[in-house]
Amino acid sequence: MNELNSLILESYSDLVDSRLEVLLEGQEKAVQDLTDAMRYSTMIGGKRIRPVLVLEFCRVCGGDPDHALDLACALEMIHTSSLIHDDMPCMDNDDMRRGQPSCHKKFGENTALLAGDALEAYAFEVAAGADLPAKAVVEAVKLLAKATGPYGMLGGQIMDVENESRDDVALDRLEATHQKKTGALIRVACELGCIAAGASKELRKAAVEYGKNLGLAFQVCDDILDVTGNELLLGKPVGSDEEEEKATYVTLLGLDAAKQTAKDYTDQAYQALEAFDENGFLRDLTESLLTREQ
Ligand code: IPE
Ligand code: IPE
Ligand code: MG
Ligand code: MG
Ligand code: MG
Repeated sequence: MNELNSLILESYSDLVDSRLEVLLEGQEKAVQDLTDAMRYSTMIGGKRIRPVLVLEFCRVCGGDPDHALDLACALEMIHTSSLIHDDMPCMDNDDMRRGQPSCHKKFGENTALLAGDALEAYAFEVAAGADLPAKAVVEAVKLLAKATGPYGMLGGQIMDVENESRDDVALDRLEATHQKKTGALIRVACELGCIAAGASKELRKAAVEYGKNLGLAFQVCDDILDVTGNELLLGKPVGSDEEEEKATYVTLLGLDAAKQTAKDYTDQAYQALEAFDENGFLRDLTESLLTREQ
């Protein structure tokens, strides 16, 4: 990523972090364990890719990213809730996340379970209060719910779990799993930015196409990094997929073909970006995600 785009990325992340700090200030002593856990898992790190996409798609569609900020933060909270639950012993059973002990390791399973639920619910409260026209807010909240729920991220998570005990997972099922478990939140990030900017149907369609391909490329890279990555850089365990007997692009295709698949999806993502005049930052971000080590 060039120097200017790195600075833009940093300033978007700072904006998101500052707002999340305010949104996640605990307000009641009686439930402080819960709010501490919500805050811990959200604030210990994370690349903030999804909120950055919300803000940048808002900007490239002619909107003011400040008005998209609460949608961006809501999405990051939903993503964090998915990570808290994903790490629990009944799911992927991982002790590290974002370079720190996972939520259940730090706070115990009861609190982690509830912190994941509470973050998700709170995210919708925050999204519903976004500084946008009422019609846009309703549309955004509905899309966010759809991307999170049974036909979105959570649906993908159950498919991922069920894949562990199936011996007939072919590429089409794996792609469908990835589209939902990871693709849905990345796709909706791009779409939320468009909604916040009041973008045209055409631009929205291109944003969704981009998000769909980026989401797939992103999870294929995640599968690759689970094999080839460095735990310290990654901030989470490597070899987790093998331990849990997951079906991944690497187990199905092998490392080289998985890398090629990530490239192919990335190329399709670039193509979708052609619809946007000021696409330099998004192009650079897309490339950096393909070669990422974190
Ligand atoms: C990890 O997402 C989980 C997946 C969907 C692959 P990220 O790689 O975006 O995790 P953070 O937010 O940077 O921790
Ligand atoms: C995670 O997929 C998808 C969601 C959390 C929704 P992974 O289980 O591969 O993510 P990591 O590798 O633990 O971050
Ligand atoms: Mg998982
Ligand atoms: Mg996992
Ligand atoms: Mg993974």
